[in-house]
Amino acid sequence: MKKAKIAVLVSGGGTNLQAILDAQAAGKLKSGEVALVVSDRPGAYALERAKKAGVPGMEIGKKALGGQAPFEAALREALEAHGIDLIILAGFLSILTADFTRRYDRRILNIHPSLIPSFCGAGFYGLKVHEAALARGVRVTGATVHFVNEIPDGGEIIAQKAVEVLPGDTPEILQRRVMEQAEWILLPEAAETVCAALIRN
Ligand code: GAR
Repeated sequence: MKKAKIAVLVSGGGTNLQAILDAQAAGKLKSGEVALVVSDRPGAYALERAKKAGVPGMEIGKKALGGQAPFEAALREALEAHGIDLIILAGFLSILTADFTRRYDRRILNIHPSLIPSFCGAGFYGLKVHEAALARGVRVTGATVHFVNEIPDGGEIIAQKAVEVLPGDTPEILQRRVMEQAEWILLPEAAETVCAALIRN
């Protein structure tokens, strides 16, 4: 069966990448395969995870290259060289330009650790999202998978899952619960749904 070729873009630890790789190994992600992992910063542990899974990984150092435009040019070259059909942002912390997102319309997914439209947009990433949720006192938070367009966290929503905030939560504890109960389930499922649609068309 034909499979969609996936590139996963990362900046850090890569637990969401791991969830995708595990889903692939378990046969739950069957309409797509991870063909490339790209980190925009040096030393991202996610690249180790790619290596262990036998998936090609590369670092395209945004800082070393001198900014977003040369980074995106190098990224496009790598994506084309690997025949990539779908890009998944999994803890990828650079904001892609409109020029880039338009070229991959409805072919870029992102996972965000809140229920969009709460606690999202520029400046809301990683632990900051959970700090903001706790500061606001919400009782329910969660995660969202959405298509990526030129507006940070503004593209069409594909899937969401709610997660309870509990008394005594710290940002770290809440982050872990949102990952375990929402992100690591939602992202591989959404990847399968989108890949299945891509190979049908
Ligand atoms: C995840 O919680 C992801 O949702 C978040 O960063 C973390 C990365 O963890 N992404 C954002 O905040 C994007 N705005 P990981 O590297 O272990 O997957």
